[in-house]
Amino acid sequence: MRMLDYLRILRDRWVLVTACALLGAVAAVAVVLGSTWRYASSITLYVSSTDHTPTANTAYEASLLAQQQVQSYARLLDSERVANELATRIGGAMTPQQLQAEITASAIPQTALLRATVTDTSAGRAQRVAEALGPAFADVVDSLESHADGAPSPVRISVVDDAAVPDGPISPRPRLDVLLGVAVGLLVGAGAAVLRETADTTVKTVGLLRAAVCGPVLASVGTLDESHLEAVREHRSPRAEAYRSLRTNLQFLNVDRPVTTVTVTSSIAGEGKSLTACNLALSLADSGRKVVLIDADLRRPQICGYLGLRGYNGLTSVLAGSTPLEQAMIVSRREGLLVLPSGPIPPNPSELLGSARMAQLLEQLKQDADILVLDSPPLLPVTDAAILAHISDGAILVAQYGRTRREHVTRAVEQIKAADARLLGAILNRMPSRGGEADSYSYYGYAAVPPGFQIAEAEAK
Ligand SMILES: Nc1ncnc2c1ncn2[C@@H]1O[C@H](COP(=O)(O)OP(=O)(O)OP(=O)(O)O)[C@@H](O)[C@H]1O
Ligand SMILES: [Mg+2]
Repeated sequence: MRMLDYLRILRDRWVLVTACALLGAVAAVAVVLGSTWRYASSITLYVSSTDHTPTANTAYEASLLAQQQVQSYARLLDSERVANELATRIGGAMTPQQLQAEITASAIPQTALLRATVTDTSAGRAQRVAEALGPAFADVVDSLESHADGAPSPVRISVVDDAAVPDGPISPRPRLDVLLGVAVGLLVGAGAAVLRETADTTVKTVGLLRAAVCGPVLASVGTLDESHLEAVREHRSPRAEAYRSLRTNLQFLNVDRPVTTVTVTSSIAGEGKSLTACNLALSLADSGRKVVLIDADLRRPQICGYLGLRGYNGLTSVLAGSTPLEQAMIVSRREGLLVLPSGPIPPNPSELLGSARMAQLLEQLKQDADILVLDSPPLLPVTDAAILAHISDGAILVAQYGRTRREHVTRAVEQIKAADARLLGAILNRMPSRGGEADSYSYYGYAAVPPGFQIAEAEAK
């Protein structure tokens, strides 16, 4: 995957990534609030010799001795003996064991310095204990180093850095911990997004659909709102652009074998066949062609509903010979567009559609119309659409962004081929409005139109 693919995945699945980042922040806040806050206060001690007659040699030796002893003193600093002395000095409720557990000590290498840190759940107490630790330690060293004859200790302990009251806790660190939580959440979210994307086999780009159908993608249609049929009523509406692009690209397919009968189908239910058939028919009528839109979905007819028409009789009544074609046909408000509703739902749709009478009817309709647009049921569950594709000049396969899987498309294309029908191309429907794919594609569609053709289109409107 290229960097751009990763960015697209993050953009498409931003909800998941943001949710994980928020979850990380909430978890970090919970940990911060739930944990015991600890404060640290430190002191630095200096170990020196008390030899008062230093020659150059003895001074050097004394300092060397102090440096060597500092290691042992570091051990002594957090010892039980110092803790006992400390407990006596500060009094209060803390036992020597509790005090000992709070002290950590180390020697600063190559120096005669010692550093001791007291960690406590109270900032004030940490400072008080650390403050008392210096003198307590000096007393213990004094008593350990004093000679039996009462001579003073050769070593002196002085406090270099006093214990200060800590400004904030050493753990937790609220800001850092929340930032860390967000960072971990973002990483987990990004990982989950990439995993989900890898497992997602739905068509999401024009390129993927093109590869799945092994043919052209005639248009990519964005997500329309409630007034989707209004879209094509306004010529300049950007929502109608995709259907104009479809109409234009369909005309390019005319070159060797004119397309006068188009079946609009898809692999599974609800991908937008009926809406596409209506909008394509309206768009074709807009360009001055005589169009007949036939609701050949004899299982779930929707054309009349979308166009706001009412027609009890229709295709099935004409095929059954109960109604003359002229009576079943509805003249729509849009100039150039005739609609043949489905008629009553029959028990044997596939038989009716595959009948010789159906083929004759299409021939008859073609006498007066420039193009017939047929709506159909989905290809995978029933054979009707394959039959319709066979008796028409070809099929347009609608695929729904993020819903239709690549294997659905492949199987649908196989069905069309098995019916000895022509796949005119595919449509990627319900592309999200954000993202440049839909726009760049329709731009490409128009850029590909020869200038002369565009002028003819404009004149026709
Ligand atoms: N581009 C789109 N933008 C927004 N909604 C859409 C779009 N295309 C289709 N829809 C909606 O999706 C639903 C199904 O659309 P439509 O009826 O055209 O699908 P269909 O493939 O004909 O379904 P069926 O298989 O049941 O015949 C409808 O509610 C329709 O309004
Ligand atoms: Mg439909």
